[in-house]
Order: sequence, then structure tokens, then C-alpha cells
Amino acid sequence: MKTTVKILDDRESLGIYAADLFLELSEKYIRQNGKFTVALAGGSTPKALYRNLVNLYAEDIHWSYIDFFWSDERYVAFDHPDSNGGMAYAHLLSPLGIAKQHYFPVPTSYKQPPQAAMEYEETIRHHFNAPTGIPTFDLIFLGMGGDGHTASLFPGSKALLETRRLVVANWVDALRSWRITFTYPLLNGGKHVIFLVSGSDKAAVIKGIHKDGLRHHPAAQVQPSHGELHWLIDASAGSEL
Ligand code: 6PG
Repeated sequence: MKTTVKILDDRESLGIYAADLFLELSEKYIRQNGKFTVALAGGSTPKALYRNLVNLYAEDIHWSYIDFFWSDERYVAFDHPDSNGGMAYAHLLSPLGIAKQHYFPVPTSYKQPPQAAMEYEETIRHHFNAPTGIPTFDLIFLGMGGDGHTASLFPGSKALLETRRLVVANWVDALRSWRITFTYPLLNGGKHVIFLVSGSDKAAVIKGIHKDGLRHHPAAQVQPSHGELHWLIDASAGSEL
């Protein structure tokens, strides 16, 4: 596994750098396979990526060959202000006019969240024509919280232990809420996994992972078995390196 760590001046330059990587990878995989399958991250940092993709590359990327999923989702409606899907729709998919058949929101209307996770897993397996085994996303974006969580793999939560399923519902005690999340088997099958990490509240964990070699943080367990791992970190999050 190839790992790179890049410190960017601020969130905006992190967004520009991530948009450049997206352009490069989209060209590579559309040329190679005629398609590019991406999982978007939750949280607010990806807004800088979305803004730059829209502002810089709206005309340069072959958007109709790209399919979008989400590596995790809060268990709220798509139009809820907390929805990761809704945020990406507002800042990326809608401004670019991405057609509905090219993005796959996490279903969040089931009474039982595990049913939503099972449906999303089936959607992913169908998309990749992979009824068994681990589908390989071309690109997976991830964020990281100040507690070291990534996607919705939170410290002490059951989903950390999942070794078979691709997608699970995860009860997060700290948030008193359900999340739907990719599991490590699916994340670690990715060809390119890119962390987008900004903010001084991440500095201690970033130091722990990248300077002290700590492995207990959920984000540190993302180790693509055959892919590339890129950490894009802004100066505030990297201030203790
Ligand atoms: C979420 C994601 C979470 C997020 C990190 C970073 O839905 O919030 O599960 O993993 O990516 O908490 O969030 P920020 O980018 O907002 O710091």
C-alpha cells in the first residue's frame, strides 16, 4: 500500500489539491474503464473540494461517466440540513447538473436502520455486478473527527468489528443516533482512499497517527490492501506534526 501525507496551507488549498486529484483520477479511470465510481465523505470539509470542482473543473471532467455514492450518512432525510447526501447535492451534484441515475443516496426512510444498510449494500453490489467479494471503488473520500472516527466508524462502536458486511447501521452512543457506514472491508478494498482533514481539533489525533504511530484510532485502521492511501491535511490539523 502506497501512503502519502500532504500538508496544505488551509482548507481552501486542501480543496483545490483534492479537486486536482479528482480530475487526474477521473481521467485515468474513465480512459481505462469508461467509468469512475466515487464514494463521497461526510462532514463539512468536503465543501471546499466541491466548490473547487464546480468552479475549476465543471467543463473539464466527463461528469456523465461518474457515479457517486456516500461512505457514510446520518440517519436523516436527504433534504435534512445534517444530510451528507443533501450537502453534496447542494454544493456539487445540483450545480453540475448530475443526473439522478448517477448518484446513489443512502436510503434513510426505513424504520429499522439495518434494513437501510442492507439495501445500500445491495445497491453497491448491483452497481459493481459483484454479488460476492469486495467491490473496489476507484476513489473513496473520507473525513476524520477529533475523536479519530472516520466515515461513521466511531471509537467503541460495533461497526469497528465488522469483517463481512460492506455496509452496516451503526448506533453511535456519543451522538445518540444511528449512522449508515461503509465497513473496513469495503473501505480497504478501495483503489484510492483520500482523507480530507481540516481543523485544529484534529491535530492531536493526526499527531498520534502520523508521528506517534498510534493504530487504535478508527481512522488509522483504514489501510487499503491493494490501493493507495492519501492524507490531505490542512496546517491547523497538522500543527503538531
Ligand atoms: C460525518 C462523517 C464524519 C466526518 C468527520 C469530519 O458524517 O460527519 O461521518 O466522518 O467526515 O467528522 O467532519 P468535518 O470535515 O466536518 O471536520
